[in-house]
Amino acid sequence: MKKPRTLRFWTVVLSLVLVYALVKWGIPVVSRQITGLPFPLTVPGTLMFIYMLLTIIALFLLVTFSEEHLAEFLDPIQRFLRGEYGKVTRALGLIVVPGLVGWQVYDVTIPKVQQPSSLRIQHPSSNFPKKNEDLKNPFASPSDAEVDAFIAQAQANEVSFIPQLLTDLESWADYTEPAHMLEAIATAPVRTFLRELQAGSVSRTSARAALLEKHLFEGRALYSMNCRPCHGDSVAGDGPMADGFKLRPINFTDNGTIETIVEGYTFWRVSNGGPGLPTEATPWDSAMPVWKLNLSEEERWKIILAEYDLAQKTPRIPESH
Ligand code: HEC
Repeated sequence: MKKPRTLRFWTVVLSLVLVYALVKWGIPVVSRQITGLPFPLTVPGTLMFIYMLLTIIALFLLVTFSEEHLAEFLDPIQRFLRGEYGKVTRALGLIVVPGLVGWQVYDVTIPKVQQPSSLRIQHPSSNFPKKNEDLKNPFASPSDAEVDAFIAQAQANEVSFIPQLLTDLESWADYTEPAHMLEAIATAPVRTFLRELQAGSVSRTSARAALLEKHLFEGRALYSMNCRPCHGDSVAGDGPMADGFKLRPINFTDNGTIETIVEGYTFWRVSNGGPGLPTEATPWDSAMPVWKLNLSEEERWKIILAEYDLAQKTPRIPESH
């Protein structure tokens, strides 16, 4: 059977349409299937450009492979121009094709009034429970009863630490044989407190300062166990894993981050992670884990205490204060 004479021409046209459709509509559909997100991933214009360019090059090679191929490809075009498919068809073709090209050029070049593309909202509050607004970090200002209990523990040299630290503290103690376990925290407020303890005249003020140091010590330890890979030693969002994320882990030393939000918001944000964010915080997916699954409330608050301290920042004060 003889091949239809227009086959090569239509192969070229259909290939172009098919590749365009695959990139334009196929990729978004497949991306929704894979990610399970309520919106498709956008296809960058450069990707479309590269695919279409490659397709055109491939088709050009195919058509110019031999004189025969080229002739076959050009044949229907020449016949069309000679009017062999009918004069009306030719007239229509000569109007429609330049018309479409002209329309496209007009559409691209005409100045347009457009809505600005929506920006990502760094601190979306649409699903932030209002009651969290006034949450206070329970470890930031210990009550008198807590301070007294701490003094009693310290006098008996039985200060309780979080379980994650026990192994390290024990091997440290075996090695250095300290007079008091609190010596593990080598900061001025703790030294003052230990001195007072030895002299037998403890003041609540220095005990409170030492207790805060203990909370910070634990918070820093939990921070380096859980958050450091992304947010970094210097809390500047430059941990060893940070470069792997398109939406970089937040730099807490930046004035636009944790300083601009109330503590309760930070707590909610750490608890719910990237998956807890509403859609206005997308399209970039945040790698921030959902910490309420792995850390207790107490651990999260201690980390937040240490986080603000390491960054040398203070949380925003709630409106109602
Ligand atoms: C896998 C990497 C990763 C780990 C581990 C991680 N984070 Fe994040 N975190 C991110 C990314 C990415 C963002 C930016 C996301 C965003 O803005 O939505 C972020 C954002 C945050 C924010 C929001 C700051 C702001 O101003 O909006 C806080 C607070 C935060 N992280 C705290 C923590 C704490 C505390 C830990 C440890 C318990 C932790 N992160 C562990 C990746 C991580």
